[in-house]
Amino acid sequence: MVSIESSREQWGSKIGFILAAAGGAIGLGNIWKFPYVMGQNGGAAFIAVYLLCVLIIGLPILIAEVLMGRTAQRNPVGTFKALTKNKMWRAVGGMGVVAGFVILSFYGVVAGWSFGYIIEAIKGSFFDYATPSAAGEHFNELTQNVYWITGLLGLFMGLTMMIVYFGINKGIERGSKIMMPVLFVLLLIMMFKGLSLEGAEEGLEFLFIPNWSKLTGLSVLEALGHAFFTLSLGMGAMMTYGSYMSKKDNVITASAQIVALDTLIALVAGVAILTAIFSTGQNPAEGPGLIFHTLPIVFTKMTGGYIFSIIFFILLSLAALTSSISLLEVVTSYFVDEKGMQRHKAVLLFGTVAFLCGVPSALSFNILSDTKIFGLNFFDLANFLASNIFLPLGGLFISIFVAYVWGFDKALIELKKGAEEIFEKRFWEIKFWKIVIKYFCPVLIFLVLLHSIGVLTMIINLFQ
Ligand code: PHE
Repeated sequence: MVSIESSREQWGSKIGFILAAAGGAIGLGNIWKFPYVMGQNGGAAFIAVYLLCVLIIGLPILIAEVLMGRTAQRNPVGTFKALTKNKMWRAVGGMGVVAGFVILSFYGVVAGWSFGYIIEAIKGSFFDYATPSAAGEHFNELTQNVYWITGLLGLFMGLTMMIVYFGINKGIERGSKIMMPVLFVLLLIMMFKGLSLEGAEEGLEFLFIPNWSKLTGLSVLEALGHAFFTLSLGMGAMMTYGSYMSKKDNVITASAQIVALDTLIALVAGVAILTAIFSTGQNPAEGPGLIFHTLPIVFTKMTGGYIFSIIFFILLSLAALTSSISLLEVVTSYFVDEKGMQRHKAVLLFGTVAFLCGVPSALSFNILSDTKIFGLNFFDLANFLASNIFLPLGGLFISIFVAYVWGFDKALIELKKGAEEIFEKRFWEIKFWKIVIKYFCPVLIFLVLLHSIGVLTMIINLFQ
């Protein structure tokens, strides 16, 4: 393993790792998905459960994933291979590769919308809307156009492939360093604009005063699933980032910083969008089109809105790119490291496969809108399966693996590298992590998953 370690490219600096991993985590999940899922699930109560999930499940699993990756210095399948002889566990890494395709298939569609909206912003389309509802109508019109939606999906996947094709360290690290702070500042400006709009209080009430009666079992599942999705957990993406991390760096603080950045961005985006929704009298439970129905209106009300709108959609597209890169990277590194494929070939082949998987999702908004599986169209199905089934299941296995297969004896030796101070002065943090990984994560995730397939209700009914 020594030879693998020493030959593996590493992040240029500690902050490079944090920014790159945060860049991978921060994406459409924070800005597109969080506001609409939260809007559909009643706001404040959902946010509370989501924050709990992020803290007590997301952060511990992130630490576990990064640690596994840093220890093995391989792709997810190779990581399981290096840490145990039991071949069964490779399937968990393999599941991550499948999850990568599933996520890319709908992620690319939404990222394509974002690309398309750069052009709409440049054309100044938003300023032509007579009423707020015209924004939604325009969005529906665009997504109904098969060429627009698949063409942009193709463009996005092509760009993702290009970046992965040319290697990992340079592009991603450099890009994230500049882009992320700019995106953050822009979101802050938009949040303040949202807060200043007439009727913003109603949005704030929705965001901060919980109405627990609106919380259903399904919302809890959505909150957990979203915690996984937004932190890129449960499919090996973070293992891959960890595999480029130096053993001198502190896995615990780096993970906490990634979680903090990701959560902050989601909350700021949430406030910006929900205040605007209420002030323009729109419906927060609109679904996946939510930000495209709202933000254009916000821009028309801002000084400099024309320029801001262009910059915003460029940054959103770039944020989506840094995430999709990490998705394609998981798939590629698997075939390169484990199957001996040439990197360039793997990128071209699997990027194309990911594009093809995305086509049915893109067509869900037009010609395939009536094709439903389990009552969901392709887009919604991929979205649901990835966040609510694949990723939590991956997390479940990762926690079981660390606690019971790899074992804390070995894990703690690795965790200590770079984190000596925490081990000496704040050992309770380590104890907490162990307890959570050993008991909380497996049990909680299992219960939520059980609920998701309706088994729990069945059992309860049996005993009533
Ligand atoms: N976390 C990314 C986002 O919020 C999505 C993602 C999920 C990326 C899983 C990689 C793996 O947009």
